[in-house]
Amino acid sequence: VPTFLLDPAVCFLNHGSFGAATAELLDAQDALRRRIEREPVDFLARQLPGLLDGARGRVAAFLGARSEELAFVRNATTGVNAVLGSLELRPGDELLTTDHRYQAVRNAMERVARRAGARVVEAAVPFPLQGEDEIVDAVAAAFSERTRLLVVDWITSPTALILPVQRLVELARSRGVPVLVDGAHAPGQVAVDLARLGADFFTGNLHKWLCAPRGSAVLAVAPEWVSRIHHPVTSHGYGAGLHGELDWVGSDDPSPWLCAPLALDLHEALGGAALREANHRLVAEGRQVLAEALGVDLPHPDDPTLYGSMATVPLPGGFGPATPAAALELNRRLFALHRVEVPAICWGGRLWVRISGFAAYNRPSDYARLAEALRALREG
Ligand SMILES: Cc1ncc(COP(=O)(O)O)c(C=O)c1O
Repeated sequence: VPTFLLDPAVCFLNHGSFGAATAELLDAQDALRRRIEREPVDFLARQLPGLLDGARGRVAAFLGARSEELAFVRNATTGVNAVLGSLELRPGDELLTTDHRYQAVRNAMERVARRAGARVVEAAVPFPLQGEDEIVDAVAAAFSERTRLLVVDWITSPTALILPVQRLVELARSRGVPVLVDGAHAPGQVAVDLARLGADFFTGNLHKWLCAPRGSAVLAVAPEWVSRIHHPVTSHGYGAGLHGELDWVGSDDPSPWLCAPLALDLHEALGGAALREANHRLVAEGRQVLAEALGVDLPHPDDPTLYGSMATVPLPGGFGPATPAAALELNRRLFALHRVEVPAICWGGRLWVRISGFAAYNRPSDYARLAEALRALREG
């Protein structure tokens, strides 16, 4: 039985933001770090390449990728930046994403676009929505002759929607546009089969839903990009292909990557697909409990293809204006006054909470506790 180190006094409903590691994994990481310190040069200069190959092979198999086309990165942000920085953009080009994208990714797109005289275009994906056709239609309508890359989230951050990435990849490819799938939340939340997905680029975190130590993520690229990818930090492997570019970006701690296989063991020990389903059921019930307590309508049908281990619930009036500052203040008060950790979000002109469910430590009563805390904090 894994031991999560979460404070038992806190009702923790935000696995999504930064994950949570177990005592067993951190002990293994600690043991590895101590092994490194016995002979840092031998470990980092001689043993590391072989160990990395082993860890990468295991993660590649789990994600349905080929080892040659997958590399470790610190986090999805770095994976996204590597892809964007490797594009050759021209003035007038367009980088397409959706209005559900993660702000840090939008910033990275903005920066590379600005340098090249290109621009970022956002498809307006409706929310609330009824089904995935609305998502595909919105993205399809936003393509133009100048679109050079489509960036789509597998699971969106502000709205916790699972996007129909397979269809979006096929849509982009039919227009000859490469696709970057931002799978920051995907590994461990949904089944990932990268060979089947067929995206040009995929990045995903192992430190969220697979509970790997923080700093463990991957970037996968299609064969035609393996020799053209650059890490945003230039080091010894400049121009040396995917592994050369990404395996060594200056002296650093490889332990989060080397612990990835243990995180996969943990995921499988917790049930793998059965864990993902249990997480979803917690969230499905939790959002119902909240919607009833708050008297609000949920933003999409109870369809497991539309959401996984996270869901957003709109807040009724009485929680302040729909501003990022009010959302932050609500999040702060939920934690300070009720010891409930849950993101409050301002998106689409209203306030929401985004709940997570992790069956190894969350219980249905956690969502009732959140509902009670929200009731207590609501004005009037
Ligand atoms: C859609 C999406 N992309 C990227 C990220 C960034 O992940 P990281 O902070 O691990 O780089 C997140 C984080 O929550 C996210 O939700």
